[in-house]
Amino acid sequence: MGRVLIPREEIAARTSELGRAIGHDLAGRNPLLVGVLKGAVLFMADLIRAIPASIAMDFMAVSSYGARARSSGAVRLTADLSVSIEGRDVIIVEDIVDSGRTLDYLRRNFATRRPKSLAVCVLLDKIGRREVDVKLDYVGFVIPDRFVVGYGFDLGGLYRGLPDIHVLEPGAPA
Ligand code: PRP
Repeated sequence: MGRVLIPREEIAARTSELGRAIGHDLAGRNPLLVGVLKGAVLFMADLIRAIPASIAMDFMAVSSYGARARSSGAVRLTADLSVSIEGRDVIIVEDIVDSGRTLDYLRRNFATRRPKSLAVCVLLDKIGRREVDVKLDYVGFVIPDRFVVGYGFDLGGLYRGLPDIHVLEPGAPA
């Protein structure tokens, strides 16, 4: 399944660092982690265990309207939060930021709900693909423009459960 880009040990070590940083920044508060389905589920599960604080979690789902609509920036909420975030310290947890359109949408959407604070934590940043400038507060790894699978990342819905992050080289057999 392609070569390993980020092995599980590096994911775990970086996730621990991010968890400590979040715990430090939000010490004494009770932040709400919001995972964006589906890719962020594995990262979310590891991150919450790395934060030395009392944490609540919730999830939401978004989708774009396909490739063409995506470039026009259309992002759609397909499953909303189950709790109010008004007055809460909220951290959006994403697996990857690519064009930036999804997180730009989520940041704007969340801001209207009047959280006390809003931060974004992403595992992977494909910075070379950015079309919309979006503020990222915690970043695991900056990666090149390669297709990745494993640790939440899928190809046609599969391979999310691989423990490492692999890169699929163009033309290479999966
Ligand atoms: C991925 C990722 C982000 C989005 C990032 O979701 O989880 O939500 O794309 O891309 P952008 O920065 O260009 O908006 P995907 O549509 O693959 O869904 P999934 O998480 O269910 O795999």
